[in-house]
This record gives sequence, C-alpha cells and structure tokens, in this order.
Amino acid sequence: MDKPKVVLGVSGGIAAYKACELLRRLTESGHDVRVVPTASALHFVGAATWSALSGNPVSTEVWDDVHEVPHVRIGQHADLVVVAPATADTLAKAAHGLADDLLTNTLLTARCPVVFAPAMHTEMWEHPATQENVATLRRRGAVVIEPAVGRLTGVDTGKGRLPDPGEIFEVCRRVLARGVSGPDLVGRHVVVSAGGTREPLDPVRFLGNRSSGKQGYALARTAAARGARVTLIAANASLPDPAGVDVVPVGTAVQLREAVLKAAADADAVVMAAAVADFRPETYAAGKIKKKDGQDPEPVVLVRNPDILAEISSERARPGQVIVGFAAETDDVLANGRSKLDRKGCDLLVVNEVGERKTFGSEENEAVVLGADGSETPVPHGPKEDLADTVWDLVVGRLS
Ligand code: CTP
Repeated sequence: MDKPKVVLGVSGGIAAYKACELLRRLTESGHDVRVVPTASALHFVGAATWSALSGNPVSTEVWDDVHEVPHVRIGQHADLVVVAPATADTLAKAAHGLADDLLTNTLLTARCPVVFAPAMHTEMWEHPATQENVATLRRRGAVVIEPAVGRLTGVDTGKGRLPDPGEIFEVCRRVLARGVSGPDLVGRHVVVSAGGTREPLDPVRFLGNRSSGKQGYALARTAAARGARVTLIAANASLPDPAGVDVVPVGTAVQLREAVLKAAADADAVVMAAAVADFRPETYAAGKIKKKDGQDPEPVVLVRNPDILAEISSERARPGQVIVGFAAETDDVLANGRSKLDRKGCDLLVVNEVGERKTFGSEENEAVVLGADGSETPVPHGPKEDLADTVWDLVVGRLS
C-alpha cells in the first residue's frame, strides 16, 4: 500500500524548530512527508534539515522543478496538509486565497483535510484580523488548533504557543483517519470531564478511584480533531494536554461540578467521562490524622456528593444540549446501564464492564452506547479513540 502523503507546511516563526519533531513522528509512523516551508521559515530552520528528515526535496517557491508543476501537484496528491507553525501572515494569506509561494499555492490546490497549528504572540492571535481569518478557515472546513498558553519567545507568556508536537501529531492521525468529512464539530463547543475525583481526609490522604483519565482525554482529542472548541475538566489526570484543548484542572467532586456548570453554560454537548466520587468525608482534618497507641481509629463518616450528570441533564443550560454519561458496571451491565440512563436523564450513556484487569489505565475499551431513544450502539474492543469517535458520531446526529 502507498504511504499516506502528508504536506507539512512550515511558516516563519520561532516554533519552526518544533516542526522537526512533528516531521519525525510523521515519517516514523509511515507517512510520506513533503515539507513546504515559507522563505521566512528558512531563517529559523534550514532546507537541509527538512530535506534530510523527510527524505524529499524542499523548495519554497513555485519556480523550482517547473516541469513537475509542483504548485499544483503537491496539493492535489496530498492526503493531509498540516501547517505548523502557522503564522498570522500565513493564516491571512490562506483565508484570502493569496498564492505567492509554494505553500500558499498548495493550500489552494489541496482537496484533502487541512490542519493549521497557529503560533504567534498573544496580541497577534487575539487581533480581530487574525480571529476573523481563523473563523473563515474553520467555516471552510479546516481544523485550526487553538494555540497553547505558556512561555512565548523572550520573557512573555500568554496564549500563542505551538502545542506539543506529539499532540499535533495525534490530531493529524485522527484527521487523516476520518478524511474530508472529518471536521463535523466545527463551530461547536463541547465539554468533557475526565479522570477521577479525590476527596481529601487530611492534607496527605484522600478517597479516590482508579480512573486514569485516558478515555476522557481521547474524547477531548478526537473532538478537537473534528474541529470543536473543547473544554476538558481534568480531575487528577497526569496526562499531556491534548493540542488545542482548554484544560481546567480540578481535584474534588465539588470543584468538578463548579467547573462543569461554568463550561456547560454555552456548550453544545457535555460528556461526563470522569469517575466522580459519590461520597466525601464529612470532615476534613486540617492537620495529618495521627494513630494513637491502644485506640481504635475514628470511623470516617461520609456524606453524598452532588450528582453532576443528573443535575446538568435535568436543568439543561441550553435547549438541545446533548448530554452523555458513562457507567462502569461489574454485573448485569446492560440492564443496570438502561436503568442508570433513565435515572440520570442524559441522552446517551456509555456502558462498559469493569474489573481488576478491564478498562482502568488501559489504552483500549469496549462498550455499548445506550440512547434515551432506545438505541443500542455496540463498540467492539479497540482503541479509546474509536469509542470516542462513536460517541461524537452519536452526538453529531443529535445536534443536527
Ligand atoms: N456522576 C456524576 N456525579 C456523581 C457521580 C457520577 O456526574 N456524583 C456521573 C459520572 O461522571 C458518570 C455517571 O454519572 O458519567 C455514572 O456514574 P456512576 O458512579 O456509575 O453512577 P452512580 O449514580 O454512582 O451509580 P451506582 O453508584 O449505582 O453505580
């Protein structure tokens, strides 16, 4: 089989050096990558590096190898074009259809999915001109990954960093897998909760659970690759931030509730993948609880935590908002799932069987998605991203 053909556009920003890592990941995972830098990009990383790492020729202008008509062919033959970093200038040219070098020509001739990973100073990103160009590109079906927040060139910090190359690679992988019909969540805001809450007993101890957060992160990552604006409420997950996702870290169920309610106010869909503790200790000891010789330990009194899924399902923040819950069951999986769906009042419930060796911390999952309309969608054993995509397919069907 032919290797999938990827065009890696690199525009002139300091983050160009990070595109070397993206290029490596793409080539090592079996993609044929043609790097098309802009002339400014070569001020940061030279053509020799791109050529050596990709194994393909590198040019910035349409005047090299004219007999091969590269300004048309490179775009026409691509399965994916990813521009990383995409500067404000390149976004503007792409939005307005300018074609003054090989990269901008390629963007006009490509009929495959296109991903932009912008990187620039916060002021440039926030400028209405850039924001309107981004909105135009998204409206036309491109996936524009939100920049990360953090250290910029020099001493500045803010929004505008290129996300981690490994995470941009994950977006590319998902977009390639889904093809041109992929970005069906463009213009939507989705909220995903992930991980497991921790309910503190004292400054060093807590009641927690074994959720790794991987399924919730897979949901966030796949939604971003489908073009959504994603807020990920992450309870104690130690996983890298998915590219383009706004991550809100929380600890307890009460903090999770607050963050979910806030983010859900303008959300089209909310997916509660977090394992929320149903109970918390009634009291919190400000100092470490000490054992006392000859005395039995004090019993831990628990009180109920709010049921966030039931609350957001019964009081929808917006009409038509789609709400998805998760249920981890050990016995009578489908019957318990169906009654939980009714009890919680959500639109979809992803039911999976758990046990010592199943689901927790693993890269794979197997589930049935129950619909409030009586539907049952089995998802065979496979990567957590596949289950995530099935959930979004079902959400998209309900949104329209
Ligand atoms: N959930 C929630 N708030 C809680 C508990 C759970 O929002 N306090 C959400 C979870 O995020 C998940 C779903 O509800 O999407 C199912 O969680 P689960 O703990 O299995 O449900 P319970 O109502 O606790 O049912 P049971 O204890 O009978 O298993």
